[in-house]
Amino acid sequence: MNQSKETELILALDCEDKSKAIEIISSLKQDLKWVKIGLQMFTAYGKDFVKEIKSNGYNVFLDLKLHDIPNTVAKAIDSLSDLSIDLLTIHASGGAEMCEYAARARNETNPNLRLLAVTVLTSINQAQLNQLNIKESIQKQVVDLAKLSTQSGVDGVVSSPLELGILRSSLDSSKLIVTPGIRPLDSEQNEQKRVMTPEEASEKGADFIVVGRPILNSPEPTKTVKQILQSIS
Ligand code: C5P
Repeated sequence: MNQSKETELILALDCEDKSKAIEIISSLKQDLKWVKIGLQMFTAYGKDFVKEIKSNGYNVFLDLKLHDIPNTVAKAIDSLSDLSIDLLTIHASGGAEMCEYAARARNETNPNLRLLAVTVLTSINQAQLNQLNIKESIQKQVVDLAKLSTQSGVDGVVSSPLELGILRSSLDSSKLIVTPGIRPLDSEQNEQKRVMTPEEASEKGADFIVVGRPILNSPEPTKTVKQILQSIS
């Protein structure tokens, strides 16, 4: 049970256009503190969009999942230094050296930013992992990548809520665990494979849960947000 820490809700703002995104975050201001901007919105609207969300009073999780040679990732992090973002993702599978370069760049250019390493995407199941020639179980792969990245200077990991138990017992308690793949009981799973309800993820110790389509596609997003918040409080 997660008795000591609170779980916070992050809205994955994956919208087809900016006006829809602004409309939804304006309507959720009373209840929501965190917004995740991912590849869809960042590639369409760039840094100005990040600044606009920030100016609406939200904490911003920029989910770029950087994965390249160490120098390129470090330079990309340097290039984000004019944004007061709160969380940023890199891929743990870029390796220890890439994580170290990322952490060093962060320390030098944006010390308040917390870096998260994506372990195994929540859309990947065991068969798909094996197709990549990785014969380990998902759990072992997740834990190994989580240890490698957090020992290389990142502040936490992104993983499926199914791995919360093993991650909590494997990582230092100061490390953040952020879990997408969250589905309230009445919502569609979509292509997500390793899913859990908000309530269960909170009980198992998630620091943050990330929820997109169950809120964005809800006929009443505010009501859905309130229900999720209630279930994790
Ligand atoms: O709509 P849904 O709730 O499935 O959105 C989940 C969000 O979390 C998406 O923005 C996706 O890019 C992100 N994500 C994920 N699995 C990861 C890392 C990030 O689903 N391992």
